Amino acid sequence: MTARAIPSPPPAGGIGVPWRDRQGAFSPFKLAVLLALMLPALWLGWLAAEGMLGPRPLNEAIHQTGLWAVRILLLSLLVTPLRQMLRQPRVMLVRRMVGVAALAYALAHLSLYIADQGFDLGKVASEIVLRFYLTIGFTALAGLVALGVTSTDGWVKRLGGRRWQALHRIVYGIGVLALVHFVLQTKLDVTEAMLTAGLFLWLMGYRLLAPKGSAPSLWRLALLVPATALGTALLEAGWYGLGTGVPFWPVLQANLDIEFGLRPALWVGIAALSMLAVGAFGRWRQGRQPARGRRARADQARHVEL
Ligand code: HEM
Repeated sequence: MTARAIPSPPPAGGIGVPWRDRQGAFSPFKLAVLLALMLPALWLGWLAAEGMLGPRPLNEAIHQTGLWAVRILLLSLLVTPLRQMLRQPRVMLVRRMVGVAALAYALAHLSLYIADQGFDLGKVASEIVLRFYLTIGFTALAGLVALGVTSTDGWVKRLGGRRWQALHRIVYGIGVLALVHFVLQTKLDVTEAMLTAGLFLWLMGYRLLAPKGSAPSLWRLALLVPATALGTALLEAGWYGLGTGVPFWPVLQANLDIEFGLRPALWVGIAALSMLAVGAFGRWRQGRQPARGRRARADQARHVEL
């Protein structure tokens, strides 16, 4: 009887260079993702240089970096679902980069806030302690820093795969805190905050429904479409109901009615529907691949997932 070969871990060379894969070879995919992640910062830098950030440029930059921090954080949570649904292990190569980019935008966000406070660190600290939404933002940032520091291969080895994965699960809590910070600082229009919260609901729902290590069935992905749309509508109606006293039912109805334009719940439904299409495409592709190729890809996936 022949024992099935246990694939050896990939060499660590080239990991430090963001456009190289784990074998140290140039990866156009990683380079493209890196450039895409840098675009918002470059765009913001250009707007600042051209004096096009409005009457309060620092404040505008704080808002933009905060928005990108939370968007990229969500993107980092989408990497695993995409790899599972598309059965494409190489997608995992960019997960660390995307996570670190979220941290970089969040750090820029804090730095700009410090600049806005005239670099008075005492004032910054007291504001963070006294203002609840800032305390929440700070806690989220501290969690992101912990994840960023321990994201290297050295830390994976030091902690061991299982403990490292357990630690990195705090990213879900960080997502919740970042969203609470986002919603609490929003003055009037919570549309974008609710849209982001709804997309986060989908990401969490996916994880609840996915069996360990693989994509959920298509009917489960289909279930996520109405569930996340309704969840988002409930969140928005609940927020207006509790925060401003606006009656719950009219907001809920408005959210699910296209007569009012597409509200966050419907956008989230459309996003969930697109993910169902991605899942269906992944299954169709899998059906066309010979079984040996599938096994090799599953082995490769185990290596790049940490
Ligand atoms: C020490 C940590 C943090 C501080 C001091 C901070 C501070 C701020 C401030 C001052 C604002 C604008 C509030 C206003 O204009 O009234 C803001 C908004 C925001 N922050 Fe933070 N924040 C922190 C951490 C984070 C983190 C970790 C994230 C996301 C991962 C984040 C995401 C956001 C978002 C999405 C907005 C709203 C942007 C918008 O609506 O345009 N913040 N934050």
